[in-house]
Formats: sequence, structure tokens, C-alpha cells
Amino acid sequence: MFTAAKPIESAQEAPHGGLLDRLQRHLLRLPTAPVAAHTQAAFEALQRDLGPSPGALIFDSGCGTGESTRNLAERHPEAWVVGVDKSADRLGRHRAALPANARLLRAELGDFWRCAVAAGWRLKAHYLPYPNPWPKARHYKRRWPAHPAFPWLLGLGGELEVRSNWRLYLEEWQVVLESLGIASRLSPLAPTPEAPLSPFEAKYLASGHACYALRAALGAGGVPAPSWSAYQARCEAPEVFSRPALTAILATLPPEHGQREALAEALTQALAAAPLRKPAGHRGGKASDFLPCDLGPGGSEALRHTLERVLEQRGEGGDDPALRLALRALRSR
Ligand SMILES: C[S@@+](CC[C@H](N)C(=O)[O-])C[C@H]1O[C@@H](n2cnc3c(N)ncnc32)[C@H](O)[C@@H]1O
Repeated sequence: MFTAAKPIESAQEAPHGGLLDRLQRHLLRLPTAPVAAHTQAAFEALQRDLGPSPGALIFDSGCGTGESTRNLAERHPEAWVVGVDKSADRLGRHRAALPANARLLRAELGDFWRCAVAAGWRLKAHYLPYPNPWPKARHYKRRWPAHPAFPWLLGLGGELEVRSNWRLYLEEWQVVLESLGIASRLSPLAPTPEAPLSPFEAKYLASGHACYALRAALGAGGVPAPSWSAYQARCEAPEVFSRPALTAILATLPPEHGQREALAEALTQALAAAPLRKPAGHRGGKASDFLPCDLGPGGSEALRHTLERVLEQRGEGGDDPALRLALRALRSR
């Protein structure tokens, strides 16, 4: 016996308008926060287990109890099938013995994908059966296509298959993939498949829900570059500066300027961080980098006033290219 699942309820009627902006933001700056220690350890243990060149790999991301991992491993004896879920409770419910080519592990998906991309792993296939769709519109940033970890999922490549009982959620995947030139197919599952892939699929089908699969070939993987338009727009944002401009501002910070120390620290940190990722075909080197740097509320204006006074005091005789560059950058904000 099971309790019938409620149909998805959402006030949202079309793919969320913020998706593509989120995607490009994430492609411009990949996450740099450290990977969670338990996920790093789980990934390293998996690497030792599967060896340095594991061959054909299939991920079952958000595998829950691991039923789908077992089903996929039986369908793909030629590949390793790795089921990953953050819930120790769900993973602990797996009872049946796993095929020899299946592994289950507890990890945070975004971090796990990132570790796998960094290790050069590329997938044969990537299944996401019934990810949490976060149906409230205000929660759309939690959905995978709008999530900071989405670039890593793209980076893993392979044949992608996402299943859901909320068609609109999969349409959002389509919108995002299409913006990257990746074609996808969205099709309903047969209403009574003999062997559901996962417990959620079994529950939804038994409750009379329509279920759908979104399939797309992500190819050889690699994290895509941001678009030119997103890059240009971001470079023009008030809190984003070119590397030469930030260097000039740091070099010309007058000793008498209030907040000098805090500003110097912010500038130094910004210069040490990864620059915005460049669009495909961009030929510029380090000198053409753009970096976000938050000078604090009114910080940019206050600094501009101080530098203008310095310039005035020096008069005609004190031409300083760094000072002029710093001022030009601050005036254009
Ligand atoms: C709706 S359940 C689907 C479970 C299973 N795929 C199925 O179809 O029966 C979503 C699963 O994703 C897992 N999950 C959600 N976000 C995750 C994350 N960031 N990292 C790892 N697992 C996650 C949850 O713990 C949960 O088991």
C-alpha cells in the first residue's frame, strides 16, 4: 500500500524569466568555496575504488534509496553506475544486493560533480530521476538549471536524462540547454511502464501522474564559456573593474583616505581571485581580465573625490598614468 502523491502545485505557468541570467552568472564565475570535506573524501574513496581510468561511467544523481542505481547497473553491465545522494537516511534504506558494477555514496551533488570534472571524468550517461523541482517560483534558484553547480553538470558531458512529473520543470531545462546550443527531447513516459526506474517514479505513476523524460546529448563535456553579451554586460557592472584599473587604484590609494586599509584589503583580495571567465574566442591575456571588487557603499565615489583632490594638488607637473587610469575607472562607474 502507498499514499497517493499529490500533483505538483505551482503558480508558475512558464519557464522562469531569471533562468538564463543565472546560468550566465554561474558560467562567468565558477564556485570557488571549498568542497565539503565529506564529499571530497567520498569522491577520493570512489577514485581509489574505480581506479585511475574507470572507463564507462554513469551517474545516478539524487539516487535516493539507490533503486534506480541498481536498475541502471543491471541495464548497463558495461559501465560503472554511481548513485549519489546527500541523505544518509535514504541511502541506508537500500536493502537488495547491488550488482558488482554499482556503487552508492553519500555526497553533496554540486561538490561531487565539481570533483569529478576536476579529475577529468567524463560520463557515458547522467541520470537525474525526479530531482526536487522546488515548484514555488520564488525558489527557482534552487532548481538545478539555476543552481551555481549547473556548470559542473554540463562539464561532465554524456547522455543526460532527467525525469519529472512536472513538465514545466523539464521545459526549464530545455530553455537553458537551448541557450547553449544543446538540443533536447521532452517526452511523456508510457503511463504504466513495467519496471519503474525509481521509487518516486513508481509512486507518481501509481498515483496517476503523467511523468516525463528530458533527454539531451551533452557530448564530450567541459564547462561551457559564458556568452559574449553576458560577459560584456558583467564587465560594465559598477562593481567590476579591469585588472589594470584595480592595480592602479591599489597603487594610488592616498595615505590620508578614510577606510584605506579596508579598501586595500578588498582590492588585494579581488586581484588574487579568479577573473570573470571569458567568452569563446576571446584572445586577451591577463591584462584583459575583469574582476569583481566591492568597494562598499559609496566607496567608489569617496575614493574618486580623494583622487581628484590629489590630482588637483599635483597640478600640471604631476602627471601620473596610474592615477589617471584609477580616476578614469572610478569616474566610469
Ligand atoms: C525527490 S527525491 C528522488 C529520489 C530518487 N531519485 C527517486 O526517483 O526515487 C530527490 C533526492 O535528491 C536528493 N538530493 C537533493 N539535493 C541534493 C544534493 N544537493 N546533493 C545530493 N543529493 C540531493 C535528496 O536527498 C533526495 O533523495
